[in-house]
Amino acid sequence: MNNNRQLCVGLSLAVTWLTGNGWRRNDSDVESIYSSEFYVDIARRAEAAKLDFLFRPDAMWLSRQAVVESPAFSSVDPTLLMASIAAHTSRIGLVSTASTTFMPPYVVARQFQSLNQLSRGRAGWNVVTSLAGNLNFGLSEMPPSAQRYAQALEFTEVVRKLWRSYPAEALRIDREAGVYADFDKVVPIDHQGEHFSVQGPLNVPEWDGPRIPLFQAGASDSGRDFAARTADAIFAATPDIAAGVELRNDLRRRAVAHGRSADDIRLMPGVSLYLGNTREEAQELYRATQEGLDPERKFARASELLGINLRELSPDTRITPDMLPPPGKVFSQTHANLLRRLIEREQPLLRDLMTRPEVVGSAYWQVIGTVEDAVREIRERFEAGALDGIIAIPGGSPGCMDLTLSQLMPRLSEEGLLRREYSSTTLAGHLGIG
Ligand SMILES: Cc1cc2nc3c(=O)[nH]c(=O)nc-3n(C[C@H](O)[C@H](O)[C@H](O)COP(=O)(O)O)c2cc1C
Repeated sequence: MNNNRQLCVGLSLAVTWLTGNGWRRNDSDVESIYSSEFYVDIARRAEAAKLDFLFRPDAMWLSRQAVVESPAFSSVDPTLLMASIAAHTSRIGLVSTASTTFMPPYVVARQFQSLNQLSRGRAGWNVVTSLAGNLNFGLSEMPPSAQRYAQALEFTEVVRKLWRSYPAEALRIDREAGVYADFDKVVPIDHQGEHFSVQGPLNVPEWDGPRIPLFQAGASDSGRDFAARTADAIFAATPDIAAGVELRNDLRRRAVAHGRSADDIRLMPGVSLYLGNTREEAQELYRATQEGLDPERKFARASELLGINLRELSPDTRITPDMLPPPGKVFSQTHANLLRRLIEREQPLLRDLMTRPEVVGSAYWQVIGTVEDAVREIRERFEAGALDGIIAIPGGSPGCMDLTLSQLMPRLSEEGLLRREYSSTTLAGHLGIG
């Protein structure tokens, strides 16, 4: 059961509606994806629909193979993008992504406090430990997941200390006395830890309002523990209701064990939407998006996650748990666990396995249907306690983005699941963070 009255609702600004064959459509406007106008238009419409926030995931590496067939892997810096959107919106939250594995904490603290100042309290930080990109940052290998999270814990502690090191109340702005800031209140943090050594204070004052909410993505054992200690919300891949209920209950339990309240942590699964005016139209959109794509990347990713070479098997092979080696080092424990879970539960034929969201869509819950189908599924998961909110990930076409904003969101408002008017001007306020 979920006792909250309303959902938290975010919209992903990763250009997912242009992935697969989506960008090849005449109406895709793919030429504009490095301009701020492209996103400002969507942001304004999302604000008109009263969404809590826009969400921009990020990666700091480029796969040359992948970029040949899709624009989705090249992207402008997410925090600069959010800053440009801030100037054209006034209410909607702006959640950007920064990696604790690659970035220095002083830079991240400064970027996000800057975004928070520029947007008047609307910044959110999606804390990621990253899946790849180590060679761009002088690391010969990706550190193992548990090590990345240990570093992430210290990293977030340093960032929070930096944010408090130059508090809003330190700004005296006394023109007559000639005192701009109160010396006693701007205090170095003198942090000496296992991973970081940072003196501080930060050179951006804290926004005079509620704090910056933290999001997290990654659901291995150490990822969950990190989230339960640190995050306000989790961006998650939960392909079915049971996965959502299990993850939400576990995060709530862990939050309490860390001395927090269970409601301090909000589970917000990504929901991949292929919407049409009819179910047939939605199915056709999905089919057209996937048609003719080279299956090689799908096979490579799934084979790596499972530790077996799926390409050697016939499509009619039933994939069973005894075919899998013991879990090894993988780029994402979360995605490997979800794929293994699917095989344990269903023992699918290879041909069917290769069409499932765990393989095709980063394990996000998928709705291929009408707006009413999406409303029904969202309500069902909300009532089952499988989520506290959603991050909408429109797929297939700009038309799907339009349906999401102009029809799905108003329907969620009509159902009482999404606000009709903003009652706050900050992201923390929208999310109900005190
Ligand atoms: C749903 C989801 C979204 C993620 N988004 C990002 C992202 O935008 N950028 C990034 O660098 N890593 C991202 N990650 C990777 C995580 O931050 C993390 O490094 C990875 O999942 C390994 O953690 P795990 O062992 O808990 O799975 C994401 C992971 C998940 C599960």
